[in-house]
Formats: sequence, structure tokens, C-alpha cells
Amino acid sequence: MKSIQSNIKKAKKYLDKNQCIAIPTETVYGLAGNAYSDISVKKIFNLKKRPVNNPLIVHYYDVNRLKEDCYISSNFTKLYNKFSPGPITFILKLKKKSKISKFVTNKQNSLAVRFPKHSLFRKLLKELDYPLAAPSANISTRLSSVQASDVNEEFGSKIKYILNGGRCQIGIESTIINLLSKPVILRYGGLDISKIEKLLKKKIFIKNNLKKKIAPGQFPLHYSPGIPLRMNVKKPNKNEAFVLIKKRKITYKNYYYLSKKNNLKQAAKNLYLLLRKIKKDGYKTIAVEKIQNRGIGKTINDRLNRASKY
Ligand code: TXA
Ligand code: MG
Repeated sequence: MKSIQSNIKKAKKYLDKNQCIAIPTETVYGLAGNAYSDISVKKIFNLKKRPVNNPLIVHYYDVNRLKEDCYISSNFTKLYNKFSPGPITFILKLKKKSKISKFVTNKQNSLAVRFPKHSLFRKLLKELDYPLAAPSANISTRLSSVQASDVNEEFGSKIKYILNGGRCQIGIESTIINLLSKPVILRYGGLDISKIEKLLKKKIFIKNNLKKKIAPGQFPLHYSPGIPLRMNVKKPNKNEAFVLIKKRKITYKNYYYLSKKNNLKQAAKNLYLLLRKIKKDGYKTIAVEKIQNRGIGKTINDRLNRASKY
């Protein structure tokens, strides 16, 4: 308990000084900085080698604090009440008087906002008098980090502090919904879209075209393990790592399991971890067997599809 308090104090100290630190969320680790500070936000872009026209998600403790920066709508309130804190990001209209650094949004008048669930991160947000801009803690286009050691692999000593919150429970990024007009899903994520449709009582349009750039995060190459990956494979090639959704009776050294028994949630949690491990184990290519395209399986397939563009 005492160490939690002192770690949060330490994290706050860095953030107050416009430093970037890594923070745990229930989806993936984030690279966080004060969203009101130009200096902090510029540091995030530099560290990540992220194109300046790819805007950041800003993390809030709750809707009361958000209201200073964004307009909210009835759809937002419905979704917020049901799913926040949790793995959903909302695109909202930015208020003119908002204090959000213009570098966060690349001067656009919309803002991506999220209310993370991880208890340690929530404790930290509660202590701060500014929200935190935090993209996933990885070098641009690479795999997101799902544990402190991944962050360390990505950035090493360039990051001054990692608030260690253990393994991320969901292991895959948040679902993004654009609420500027009619709701549109911009990214598959940790929250199953059918749950959103059920709540709003309508089918929701998905703008997930891999070829056309819609949101910057929809650039085709993304979430890449850094070696070629192919999907829907029945039989791997020689010397290829083979990623399987459930345990096999007869197994081989190159077999990697996403879950014991075809559990898609478990598979999502293990996905990035496994892809990182395969690369470290020295494989030059990855084959993945077909994964059911339902629930969070859609998110897994979306990420594999983008990773396969390497
Ligand atoms: O789970 C998550 O969402 C994690 C954790 C750390 O919260 N964050 C995350 O951030 O995945 P990032 O920066 O890796 O991905 C955010 C995506 C980007 O693809 C970006 O283009 C999109 O959100 N985005 C940000 N602001 C936007 C906006 N105003 N309109 C449309 N898309 C936006
Ligand atoms: Mg990212």
C-alpha cells in the first residue's frame, strides 16, 4: 500500500516537471504526459517517432473534468455511463476555451478521450490537475506494450519512469467511436461492438478501410512485430513460428498458443506478448491459424491483418 502511494507520488513528480512516463492501463501501456503542456506533448511525439498529424488520446479521471475541454452529447452520456471507465475511446468536439495543447490534436477541433479502468492509473489521474495525453507505449507502427518489460524494450533509458501495474488485463487497445455526428467505429478494440449496438439500439457503421486513410491510426502498417506475418494458415512452412488459438495434443517447438481452449479474450490478452516472444526466439516469419471473427476475435483479426502488411 505504502509503495503504491510512493510510486504515484514519484509518477506525479515527473509529470509535473513536463517529463513523459509510462503508465499501465487495462488495454495496453501508455506513454503519458501533461495534455495541457506543449513541452510534454512534443516529447511524446519525439519519443514515439510519431508523425505530428497523428493525434493522441487524452485520458481523464471522469466526465466532470472532461467537461472543461469537450462538448458532450446524449450518445456519449449513454456510452459513458455503461462502459467507462473501460476500453472505449470517444471522439468529441473540442471546446474553444479548452486548455489541451494544440499539438495533441494537430490543431483539429476534435479530441479522442478515454477513461481508463486500471486502478493504479486512476489513482494517479485523481491526483493530477491536468489530463494525460497517452498513446500506446511503443515506437510508431510497432506492437503495443502489455507489460513494463515491453516498454523497457521499446524505449530503454529514454523513459525516466515506468509506473508498473503488471500485465494488462485486456492486452489490446481500446475501441474508438467517433461521436461528432452519427456514431462510427474508427478502430476495433477491447470493447465488443455488439455491446455498443445493443445499448444504442442500432447497427453502427464501421469505417475500418485498410486502404483508405480515415483516422491516422488506420494507416495500414501498424501493430507490427517487425517480421512478416501471414494469416489463416493451415500448415506452417519449415522454420516458421506457428500461432494457434488452442492447445494441440501433439505439439512442436515452433507452436505458440494464444489460449488453452479457443478462448478469444485470453487470446487477445496473449497476442502481443506472444508475437514479441516469437521475434525474440529468433523466428524470421510468423504463420497464424484462422481465428474466429466474432466478438474480440474481430479485433485480433484486425491487428493481425495490419501486422501482415509488413
Ligand atoms: O487503449 C488505448 O487506446 C491505448 C491506451 C494507452 O489508452 N492508447 C492508444 O493510443 O492506443 P494510440 O495513440 O496508440 O492510438 C490512438 C488512435 C490513433 O490511431 C489516432 O489516430 C486515433 O486514436 N485518434 C486520436 N485522436 C483522434 C481524433 N481526434 N480523431 C480520430 N482519430 C483519432
Ligand atoms: Mg498505438
